[in-house]
Amino acid sequence: LVTGFDFSTAGRIVFRRGAALDIVEVTRSLGTRAFVVTGLAGSARSRILERLDSAGLLCDGHAQSGEPTIGDATRGASFARDSGCDVVVAVGGGSAIDRGKAISALAANPGDPLEFLEVIGAGRPLKNAPLPFIAIPATAGTGSEVTRNAVLCSPAHKVKVSLRSALMLPRVALVDPELTFDLPAPITASTGMDALTQLIEPYVSVRANAITDMFCRQGMIRVRRSLERAVETGGFAGPRQDMACASLLSGLALSHAGLGIVHGFAAAIGGMFDAPHGALCAALLPHGMRVNIAALGDRDPHGAALKRYGRVAAILTRRKNAGPEAGADWVEELCGRLKIPALATHGVTSAHVAELAGKAAEASSTKGNPITLSIGEMQTLLRAALQ
Ligand SMILES: [Fe+2]
Repeated sequence: LVTGFDFSTAGRIVFRRGAALDIVEVTRSLGTRAFVVTGLAGSARSRILERLDSAGLLCDGHAQSGEPTIGDATRGASFARDSGCDVVVAVGGGSAIDRGKAISALAANPGDPLEFLEVIGAGRPLKNAPLPFIAIPATAGTGSEVTRNAVLCSPAHKVKVSLRSALMLPRVALVDPELTFDLPAPITASTGMDALTQLIEPYVSVRANAITDMFCRQGMIRVRRSLERAVETGGFAGPRQDMACASLLSGLALSHAGLGIVHGFAAAIGGMFDAPHGALCAALLPHGMRVNIAALGDRDPHGAALKRYGRVAAILTRRKNAGPEAGADWVEELCGRLKIPALATHGVTSAHVAELAGKAAEASSTKGNPITLSIGEMQTLLRAALQ
């Protein structure tokens, strides 16, 4: 039985070494004045800016440090609007891409962004089509180059929420693994664990379907064989290409099958603590798997989701008959080898457990979880990830 699906993604996806150098031609096909959002400084990113500038296409730009707030997005949007930009380019990690994506949407939809935001706002559809948006990922983790949402932090509500619309799909995604070659090991590790989470959660999600299953399986194989090598060997091309591809596949999967409780908690914690999204997902993932597997074993022991956790385990451990728990063990051991810090390192304590579990229950990602968890189960999950 094939579950129905409705598939749409970025208008064009270019994946190859050097793809970022197509930026002038691609920008010119979509506009004349580019607003550029960049992440951390890097030589490849400077080259992209120089190319746009010398082609006379660079209009204005902002650098994004840390994960974007609603204010970052609205400020960028009014800048882009006031300076007459007609295309938005983002080069960087998920933070830069999400900010660029939100700017492209809000520049064409002025007013209070709460009108369009999920959870804390009215969640109304965008009125006008966003400015054309080009995404160039410089980390291998978020897959945001092919998703239709931008995650923004609301400091007032202390939560991260999405601005989401099918109109927000990037027009072009230039995925150039070379941009990730100089990433430091801890960023490679945490962003890579985000990708793995975004491959496991859609695979067991209530919205999993034939297309997303294919992305998830291929992505998990790549993370299994290449994440540790990418962390250890840095600029070595093979593992970096595998991880850039796994990240892309994770974006294709999550934007159609949704996520689960790990991302629900990552949104809740990320709104209250200054911690990188990937590091939070990594610290939560093995515990999220264990709590889901136990809940499914109790309440849905013959359902598809538990079998899927068995298949996750088989892919990750390369043992055909590995039980579901073996997948969680594999992930936990990987976190240890990659030196992923526990949640306490980011300041989360047992005093925050009740509030965070309440927020995670409300998070949009949690809707994809394969089974409805009780607040008690969610608290157990979070306590296990603290230390
Ligand atoms: Fe994520």
